[in-house]
Amino acid sequence: AIGNQIGVAVDNARLYQQQREVAEQLRVMQENLRFYIHQVTRAQEEERKRISHELHDDTIQALVVLSRQLDALASGDKGLSEENRLRLEELWQQTDNILRGVRRLSQDLRPAALDRLGLLAALEWLASDVAEYSGIAIKVNVLGTKRHLHEEVQLVLFRIAQEALRNVWRHSQATEAEITLEFDERKTRIIVSDNGKGFNLPKTMGDLARDGKLGLAGMQERAQLLDGTLTVQSEPGRGTTVTVVIPA
Ligand SMILES: Nc1ncnc2c1ncn2[C@@H]1O[C@H](COP(=O)(O)OP(=O)(O)OP(=O)(O)O)[C@@H](O)[C@H]1O
Ligand SMILES: [Mg+2]
Repeated sequence: AIGNQIGVAVDNARLYQQQREVAEQLRVMQENLRFYIHQVTRAQEEERKRISHELHDDTIQALVVLSRQLDALASGDKGLSEENRLRLEELWQQTDNILRGVRRLSQDLRPAALDRLGLLAALEWLASDVAEYSGIAIKVNVLGTKRHLHEEVQLVLFRIAQEALRNVWRHSQATEAEITLEFDERKTRIIVSDNGKGFNLPKTMGDLARDGKLGLAGMQERAQLLDGTLTVQSEPGRGTTVTVVIPA
Protein backbone atom coordinates (compact mmCIF):
# COMPACT_ATOMS: atom_id res chain seq x y z
CA ALA A 1 0.00 0.00 0.00
CA ILE A 2 2.85 2.31 0.83
CA GLY A 3 4.44 1.42 -2.50
CA ASN A 4 1.20 2.47 -4.19
CA GLN A 5 1.08 5.76 -2.37
CA ILE A 6 4.67 6.52 -3.35
CA GLY A 7 3.76 5.67 -6.95
CA VAL A 8 0.81 8.08 -6.87
CA ALA A 9 2.96 10.82 -5.35
CA VAL A 10 5.60 10.36 -8.05
CA ASP A 11 2.92 10.43 -10.74
CA ASN A 12 1.47 13.61 -9.25
CA ALA A 13 4.86 15.25 -9.14
CA ARG A 14 5.47 14.32 -12.77
CA LEU A 15 2.04 15.63 -13.81
CA TYR A 16 2.65 18.85 -11.95
CA GLN A 17 6.00 19.24 -13.67
CA GLN A 18 4.44 18.61 -17.09
CA GLN A 19 1.71 21.12 -16.36
CA ARG A 20 4.29 23.75 -15.53
CA GLU A 21 6.20 23.02 -18.69
CA VAL A 22 3.09 23.33 -20.85
CA ALA A 23 2.15 26.58 -19.12
CA GLU A 24 5.63 27.92 -19.74
CA GLN A 25 5.50 26.90 -23.42
CA LEU A 26 2.15 28.63 -23.75
CA ARG A 27 3.53 31.78 -22.17
CA VAL A 28 6.47 31.83 -24.58
CA MET A 29 4.17 31.26 -27.54
CA GLN A 30 1.91 34.09 -26.45
CA GLU A 31 4.86 36.39 -26.05
CA ASN A 32 6.14 35.48 -29.52
CA LEU A 33 2.70 36.09 -30.98
CA ARG A 34 2.50 39.51 -29.35
CA PHE A 35 5.93 40.41 -30.60
CA TYR A 36 4.95 39.29 -34.07
CA ILE A 37 1.72 41.33 -34.04
CA HIS A 38 3.71 44.32 -32.88
CA GLN A 39 6.12 43.98 -35.77
CA VAL A 40 3.33 43.51 -38.31
CA THR A 41 1.49 46.57 -36.99
CA ARG A 42 4.67 48.63 -37.19
CA ALA A 43 5.40 47.44 -40.72
CA GLN A 44 1.83 48.25 -41.74
CA GLU A 45 2.13 51.77 -40.35
CA GLU A 46 5.45 52.29 -42.10
CA GLU A 47 3.94 51.12 -45.36
CA ARG A 48 0.94 53.43 -44.93
CA LYS A 49 3.27 56.33 -44.27
CA ARG A 50 5.28 55.56 -47.39
CA ILE A 51 2.20 55.30 -49.63
CA SER A 52 0.74 58.44 -48.11
CA HIS A 53 3.93 60.40 -48.79
CA GLU A 54 4.15 59.07 -52.31
CA LEU A 55 0.57 60.08 -53.01
CA HIS A 56 1.26 63.48 -51.56
CA ASP A 57 4.55 64.13 -53.30
CA ASP A 58 3.80 62.64 -56.72
CA THR A 59 0.16 61.93 -57.50
CA ILE A 60 -1.31 64.97 -55.80
CA GLN A 61 1.31 67.34 -57.22
CA ALA A 62 0.72 66.00 -60.74
CA LEU A 63 -3.03 66.45 -60.34
CA VAL A 64 -2.58 70.01 -59.07
CA VAL A 65 -0.51 70.88 -62.15
CA LEU A 66 -3.08 69.25 -64.44
CA SER A 67 -5.92 71.10 -62.74
CA ARG A 68 -4.13 74.47 -63.10
CA GLN A 69 -3.39 73.87 -66.77
CA LEU A 70 -7.01 73.00 -67.51
CA ASP A 71 -8.15 76.04 -65.60
CA ALA A 72 -5.74 78.31 -67.47
CA LEU A 73 -6.83 76.85 -70.79
CA ALA A 74 -10.53 77.27 -70.05
CA SER A 75 -10.23 80.86 -68.86
CA GLY A 76 -7.39 82.10 -71.08
CA ASP A 77 -8.00 81.05 -74.69
CA LYS A 78 -10.40 83.56 -76.25
CA GLY A 79 -10.72 81.63 -79.51
CA LEU A 80 -12.31 78.66 -77.74
CA SER A 81 -15.81 77.66 -78.79
CA GLU A 82 -18.42 77.74 -76.05
CA GLU A 83 -18.82 73.97 -76.31
CA ASN A 84 -15.11 73.32 -75.86
CA ARG A 85 -14.91 75.78 -73.01
CA LEU A 86 -17.71 73.97 -71.19
CA ARG A 87 -16.03 70.64 -71.88
CA LEU A 88 -12.74 71.95 -70.48
CA GLU A 89 -14.48 73.19 -67.39
CA GLU A 90 -16.01 69.77 -66.90
CA LEU A 91 -12.58 68.14 -67.19
CA TRP A 92 -11.23 70.63 -64.68
CA GLN A 93 -14.09 69.79 -62.31
CA GLN A 94 -13.43 66.08 -62.65
CA THR A 95 -9.72 66.55 -62.03
CA ASP A 96 -10.56 68.51 -58.93
CA ASN A 97 -12.82 65.74 -57.65
CA ILE A 98 -10.10 63.15 -58.18
CA LEU A 99 -7.66 65.45 -56.43
CA ARG A 100 -9.91 65.72 -53.43
CA GLY A 101 -10.37 61.94 -53.30
CA VAL A 102 -6.64 61.26 -53.44
CA ARG A 103 -5.99 63.93 -50.78
CA ARG A 104 -8.49 62.27 -48.47
CA LEU A 105 -6.94 58.85 -49.10
CA SER A 106 -3.47 60.19 -48.38
CA GLN A 107 -4.66 61.89 -45.17
CA ASP A 108 -6.52 58.77 -44.12
CA LEU A 109 -3.42 56.63 -44.55
CA ARG A 110 -1.32 58.99 -42.50
CA PRO A 111 -2.80 62.25 -41.25
CA ALA A 112 -0.15 64.93 -41.65
CA ALA A 113 -1.65 66.66 -38.62
CA LEU A 114 -0.68 63.72 -36.41
CA ASP A 115 3.01 64.04 -37.24
CA ARG A 116 3.06 67.82 -37.32
CA LEU A 117 0.54 68.96 -34.73
CA GLY A 118 -0.13 65.97 -32.51
CA LEU A 119 -3.06 63.82 -31.47
CA LEU A 120 -5.61 66.47 -30.59
CA ALA A 121 -5.30 68.34 -33.90
CA ALA A 122 -5.46 65.02 -35.75
CA LEU A 123 -8.63 64.03 -33.88
CA GLU A 124 -10.18 67.42 -34.72
CA TRP A 125 -9.33 66.85 -38.36
CA LEU A 126 -10.73 63.31 -38.24
CA ALA A 127 -13.98 64.45 -36.63
CA SER A 128 -14.57 67.19 -39.18
CA ASP A 129 -13.66 64.92 -42.07
CA VAL A 130 -16.05 62.14 -41.00
CA ALA A 131 -18.73 64.73 -40.16
CA GLU A 132 -18.42 66.15 -43.65
CA TYR A 133 -18.99 62.93 -45.54
CA SER A 134 -21.36 61.24 -43.10
CA GLY A 135 -23.52 64.16 -42.00
CA ILE A 136 -23.11 63.03 -38.36
CA ALA A 137 -22.39 65.82 -35.87
CA ILE A 138 -19.14 64.91 -34.14
CA LYS A 139 -17.72 66.64 -31.09
CA VAL A 140 -14.21 66.37 -29.66
CA ASN A 141 -13.77 66.84 -25.89
CA VAL A 142 -10.64 66.97 -23.79
CA LEU A 143 -10.73 66.24 -20.07
CA GLY A 144 -7.93 66.54 -17.54
CA THR A 145 -4.58 68.23 -18.01
CA LYS A 146 -3.13 67.83 -21.48
CA ARG A 147 0.31 66.30 -21.63
CA HIS A 148 2.61 65.01 -24.30
CA LEU A 149 2.14 61.37 -25.27
CA HIS A 150 4.69 59.13 -26.89
CA GLU A 151 4.38 59.03 -30.67
CA GLU A 152 3.40 55.39 -30.67
CA VAL A 153 0.66 56.01 -28.11
CA GLN A 154 -0.68 58.90 -30.18
CA LEU A 155 -0.82 56.74 -33.25
CA VAL A 156 -2.61 53.91 -31.45
CA LEU A 157 -5.21 56.26 -29.96
CA PHE A 158 -5.72 57.91 -33.34
CA ARG A 159 -6.17 54.58 -35.17
CA ILE A 160 -8.67 53.44 -32.54
CA ALA A 161 -10.71 56.63 -32.90
CA GLN A 162 -10.54 56.31 -36.68
CA GLU A 163 -11.76 52.71 -36.66
CA ALA A 164 -14.46 53.45 -34.07
CA LEU A 165 -15.78 56.35 -36.15
CA ARG A 166 -15.75 54.18 -39.24
CA ASN A 167 -18.07 51.84 -37.35
CA VAL A 168 -20.28 54.73 -36.25
CA TRP A 169 -20.61 55.82 -39.84
CA ARG A 170 -21.17 52.33 -41.29
CA HIS A 171 -23.33 50.66 -38.67
CA SER A 172 -24.88 53.03 -36.16
CA GLN A 173 -27.30 55.32 -38.03
CA ALA A 174 -26.39 57.85 -35.34
CA THR A 175 -27.01 61.57 -35.68
CA GLU A 176 -24.40 62.51 -33.09
CA ALA A 177 -21.08 61.13 -31.95
CA GLU A 178 -18.37 62.22 -29.56
CA ILE A 179 -14.68 61.63 -29.12
CA THR A 180 -13.41 62.24 -25.62
CA LEU A 181 -9.73 62.30 -24.78
CA GLU A 182 -9.16 62.10 -21.06
CA PHE A 183 -5.86 62.57 -19.29
CA ASP A 184 -5.60 60.91 -15.90
CA GLU A 185 -2.55 60.85 -13.70
CA ARG A 186 -1.18 57.62 -15.03
CA LYS A 187 -3.65 56.77 -17.76
CA THR A 188 -4.99 58.13 -21.00
CA ARG A 189 -8.49 57.27 -22.03
CA ILE A 190 -10.19 57.67 -25.37
CA ILE A 191 -13.92 57.26 -25.60
CA VAL A 192 -15.91 57.19 -28.81
CA SER A 193 -19.66 57.17 -28.33
CA ASP A 194 -22.68 57.54 -30.56
CA ASN A 195 -26.44 57.88 -30.16
CA GLY A 196 -27.17 55.26 -32.82
CA LYS A 197 -28.97 51.94 -32.89
CA GLY A 198 -26.44 49.91 -30.89
CA PHE A 199 -25.99 46.14 -31.16
CA ASN A 200 -25.87 42.93 -29.16
CA LEU A 201 -22.35 42.30 -27.96
CA PRO A 202 -20.83 38.94 -28.84
CA LYS A 203 -19.37 36.76 -26.07
CA THR A 204 -15.80 37.46 -27.18
CA MET A 205 -13.96 39.53 -29.77
CA GLY A 206 -12.83 36.22 -31.23
CA ASP A 207 -16.41 35.54 -32.33
CA LEU A 208 -16.39 38.72 -34.40
CA ALA A 209 -12.97 38.03 -35.87
CA ARG A 210 -14.09 34.57 -36.97
CA ASP A 211 -16.87 36.24 -38.98
CA GLY A 212 -14.27 38.40 -40.70
CA LYS A 213 -15.16 41.44 -38.61
CA LEU A 214 -11.78 42.74 -37.64
CA GLY A 215 -12.42 46.33 -36.58
CA LEU A 216 -13.06 45.90 -32.86
CA ALA A 217 -10.64 42.98 -32.55
CA GLY A 218 -7.94 45.11 -34.20
CA MET A 219 -8.62 47.99 -31.82
CA GLN A 220 -8.26 45.61 -28.90
CA GLU A 221 -5.04 44.23 -30.34
CA ARG A 222 -3.57 47.71 -30.70
CA ALA A 223 -4.60 48.62 -27.17
CA GLN A 224 -3.08 45.43 -25.74
CA LEU A 225 0.22 46.10 -27.46
CA LEU A 226 0.53 49.09 -25.12
CA ASP A 227 -0.79 47.12 -22.11
CA GLY A 228 -4.10 48.88 -22.51
CA THR A 229 -7.66 47.62 -22.51
CA LEU A 230 -10.69 48.05 -24.72
CA THR A 231 -14.29 47.92 -23.54
CA VAL A 232 -17.39 48.12 -25.66
CA GLN A 233 -20.76 49.06 -24.22
CA SER A 234 -23.76 48.70 -26.46
CA GLU A 235 -27.38 47.77 -26.36
CA PRO A 236 -29.91 47.78 -29.17
CA GLY A 237 -31.53 51.21 -29.30
CA ARG A 238 -29.14 52.79 -26.82
CA GLY A 239 -26.06 53.70 -28.79
CA THR A 240 -22.52 52.42 -28.53
CA THR A 241 -19.50 53.46 -26.48
CA VAL A 242 -15.98 52.25 -27.12
CA THR A 243 -13.44 52.99 -24.38
CA VAL A 244 -9.73 52.42 -24.54
CA VAL A 245 -7.45 52.97 -21.56
CA ILE A 246 -3.70 53.10 -22.01
CA PRO A 247 -1.25 53.34 -19.11
CA ALA A 248 0.59 56.34 -20.53
N1 LIG B 1 -21.07 52.13 -33.46
C1 LIG B 1 -21.74 51.00 -33.77
N2 LIG B 1 -23.09 51.02 -33.88
C2 LIG B 1 -23.78 49.90 -34.20
N3 LIG B 1 -23.21 48.71 -34.42
C3 LIG B 1 -21.87 48.62 -34.34
C4 LIG B 1 -21.07 49.75 -34.01
N4 LIG B 1 -19.77 49.36 -33.98
C5 LIG B 1 -19.77 48.06 -34.27
N5 LIG B 1 -21.02 47.59 -34.50
C6 LIG B 1 -21.41 46.19 -34.78
O1 LIG B 1 -20.33 45.36 -34.41
C7 LIG B 1 -19.88 44.60 -35.50
C8 LIG B 1 -18.39 44.42 -35.42
O2 LIG B 1 -17.69 45.60 -35.71
P1 LIG B 1 -16.22 45.46 -36.34
O3 LIG B 1 -15.67 46.84 -36.52
O4 LIG B 1 -15.44 44.53 -35.50
O5 LIG B 1 -16.47 44.78 -37.75
P2 LIG B 1 -17.10 45.39 -39.08
O6 LIG B 1 -17.20 46.87 -38.96
O7 LIG B 1 -18.37 44.65 -39.36
O8 LIG B 1 -16.04 44.99 -40.17
P3 LIG B 1 -14.59 45.62 -40.38
O9 LIG B 1 -14.38 46.63 -39.29
O10 LIG B 1 -13.64 44.47 -40.28
O11 LIG B 1 -14.64 46.25 -41.72
C9 LIG B 1 -20.37 45.33 -36.72
O12 LIG B 1 -20.57 44.47 -37.80
C10 LIG B 1 -21.67 45.96 -36.24
O13 LIG B 1 -22.72 45.03 -36.34
MG1 LIG C 1 -15.55 48.02 -38.31
